[in-house]
Amino acid sequence: MPRLTRRDVLRSGIGVSGAAMLSRSAFARIHALLQAAENDAALPAIAPREKLLADFGWKFKLGNADDFAKDLDFGKDQGDFAKTGDFKFAKAGFDDSSWRSLNLPHDWAVELPFVWDEDLKSHGYKPLGRKYPATSVGWYRRSFDIPASDTGRRITLQFDGAFRSALVFLNGCFIGRNDNGYAPFTFDLTDFLHYGGKNYLVVRMDASFGDGWFYEGAGLYRHVWLVKQDSLHLGQWESYVRPKLENGTATLELGAVVENHGKSGESGRVRWQILDADGKAVASADTPAQTVAVDGKAAFTATARLPHPALWSPDTPHLYSAVVTLETDGKPRDAERVAFGVRTARFDADRGFLLNDKPLKIQGTCNHQDHAGVGAALPDRLQYFRIGVLQEMGCNGVRTSHNMPTPEWVEACDRMGMLMMCETRQMSSNPEGMAQLEAMVKRYRNSPSVIIWSIGNEEWELQGPMAEQGARIGAEMVERCHELDPTRVVSAAVNGDNLQGVSNALDIIGFNYRLDGPDKYHAKFPKRPLYGSETSSAISTRGIYSTDKLRNWVNSYDGVVPWGETPEAWWTFYGTREWEAGGFAWTGFDYRGEPTPYGWPSINSQFGIVDMCGFPKDYFFYYKAWWGKEPSLHVFPHWNWEGREGEEIAVWVYSNLDEVELFVNGSSAGSKKVPHLGHVEWKVKYAPGAIEARGIKDGKVVLTEKRETTGPAAALRLTADRSTIQADGEDIAMIRVEALDSAGRLVPLADQLLEFKLTGPGAIIGVGNGDPNCQESDKEPQRSLFNGLAQVIVQGSKTAGDLTLEAWPKDDDHLQSAKITVTSQAAQPRPALI
Ligand code: GAL
Repeated sequence: MPRLTRRDVLRSGIGVSGAAMLSRSAFARIHALLQAAENDAALPAIAPREKLLADFGWKFKLGNADDFAKDLDFGKDQGDFAKTGDFKFAKAGFDDSSWRSLNLPHDWAVELPFVWDEDLKSHGYKPLGRKYPATSVGWYRRSFDIPASDTGRRITLQFDGAFRSALVFLNGCFIGRNDNGYAPFTFDLTDFLHYGGKNYLVVRMDASFGDGWFYEGAGLYRHVWLVKQDSLHLGQWESYVRPKLENGTATLELGAVVENHGKSGESGRVRWQILDADGKAVASADTPAQTVAVDGKAAFTATARLPHPALWSPDTPHLYSAVVTLETDGKPRDAERVAFGVRTARFDADRGFLLNDKPLKIQGTCNHQDHAGVGAALPDRLQYFRIGVLQEMGCNGVRTSHNMPTPEWVEACDRMGMLMMCETRQMSSNPEGMAQLEAMVKRYRNSPSVIIWSIGNEEWELQGPMAEQGARIGAEMVERCHELDPTRVVSAAVNGDNLQGVSNALDIIGFNYRLDGPDKYHAKFPKRPLYGSETSSAISTRGIYSTDKLRNWVNSYDGVVPWGETPEAWWTFYGTREWEAGGFAWTGFDYRGEPTPYGWPSINSQFGIVDMCGFPKDYFFYYKAWWGKEPSLHVFPHWNWEGREGEEIAVWVYSNLDEVELFVNGSSAGSKKVPHLGHVEWKVKYAPGAIEARGIKDGKVVLTEKRETTGPAAALRLTADRSTIQADGEDIAMIRVEALDSAGRLVPLADQLLEFKLTGPGAIIGVGNGDPNCQESDKEPQRSLFNGLAQVIVQGSKTAGDLTLEAWPKDDDHLQSAKITVTSQAAQPRPALI
């Protein structure tokens, strides 16, 4: 995670809604985040373990799933796997000079052209799958040095997740395979490395099969790490810190597992040092020594006390960390840091969700992990940007639909105070399903943000015709979650009656849609806690106010799919029942694929409350009004309706104030009381000029907002989310591109094609505009504005310097170009494999 400066963090949410002022609670949250980030950056790397980022310096080439001649001759004859050490492409001397150079994370799917084939609809019309062998296989290759002094250490290669069907080779040897696209996987390279020389690593990824029904990307789209440890070491994801809060004191249950891959049994002990957010040691614990047999493992446990802990919550995301050290004879042999938070999280059948014993409605959104410009390969910083956008509308929870999330997403939620429903991909008690589930629970059980484990989503068969099997599979999965983590509830996102199948085993009952379900269920089972595991599926196109089926546009007032509900409909349901814990709206961000309710040429969904870039749609402001803590007022549509003079236009206002008065060209169109959790609306005859909403609280006008008829686009404006980034080779700046008229007002319909150029030590890694129907490249340095806006993602390198982005119109002489400079300042990159 790039180190954040105070200024960075303060700027992170600004510009999202156009309202630049940060609320006091937002300031407090951001301050806590800043402290946590600084503390984290200040912690030294924990010797003797080395964790090296293996993201830099890869070569890449597309292969072919059907034609061995275009696939490095892989599978040409029977003998590929016949002899160990014989894979020539993973040896010195193999010529990869024609392969492309790139760094991870990388998603090759987002680079592919769009192809009109309805079988590709879910995948956003990207040609992946068995029908597209020429674009479904990718080869990654790199070399790296291992010093002779590493002999005797245990060295593993860790993938945070990769899409899909990875085959891993090192120094001519086949190392292993991993099929699913989301769970992390690790291979022990110790026996296969060349100590004191070069090593050749090759990964073949095959995205011919998918795991989901949404855009999933392709390739090494998450981080890869090389980890060097002692042969006596801490087991991966075995360390846990389980705080139990009683009478203001937290008792920390501490656990770790030590594994011995050495040549003789050894006696070791484990120590824990607990640090607060300032890095000050506040507690410690250790264990008696135990002997760990060769190839054996041993569990170590202890407890520590933390009097008056600072509690973790969305407003105060205080984090502690435990430095876990394995010692033999007083000498550290392995160590790691585990971040954790102290909080209680409880679901109650009458009172909903309680965090730290106070009721807190879950104001959540479901999200897939892809973004404009970069597809599934999100730089870490983008996780923070996206959470900032969601928090700006009062969202306090995310559901990682429908798969195990990238670690940095969870970490960002811990730090920024976002609750999480963490979901596994495969609902099954088969070995693959259980392995995915176990990896998820072990990996994230220390994260205070995680409040619900989800064993899956909408398994129709297991809820219906196969309910008996569903009940058994569900029970097995729930039990395993409880064994690994007795502190959290287990649930699933169920689209059904919840009366049978998987639901029998769940701790809390999630309803997808079907607002007629929860009341009946609650009456029948008053002791079972309920929440909305997936709600809404409202659809809208940013900046569009009438549905146009020919253009695949959905109006921004009340678009919704037949099985869904508008934000107002679902929230007036969930927001008014004390026993409902809240819910997760489908979706926070638009995502590629599932272009419901349309097909080609739409390439991404319209379910988002914000678009693919994170630009708010009007629904955003419904949530901001009723989920946010500050007075809020938003009037729409825009007021550029040339050709519709004299026609009636619907004007809506989302506000949480008592009353709103609307003025049209200076005259009052009347004042209306705002219904609780509702909106107010007028029908107004269009004439160029302005509409103005005045929001009234306790008889006084406290907020006003205007939409004015603008002139044509006269100038571009570029705004960066941060003016300084870290020259660590990973950090990014999010640049918002706007078209303004001569009076400096955003032109709501501007659609000019723009070109971009970046000078300085960095690159444009993606562009977007939030248009669900735009088939322009995500990677070329050009993009059309969509309803006045576009986005450019700029990434620095490891060299410090100024990054200057220029934007100019391709063919509009009346539109002035713009420039912005972001400073990429010298920074210590993370330790990386070279
Ligand atoms: C749900 C499903 C989501 C998405 C959504 C669209 O049934 O769980 O993944 O497809 O429908 O409305």
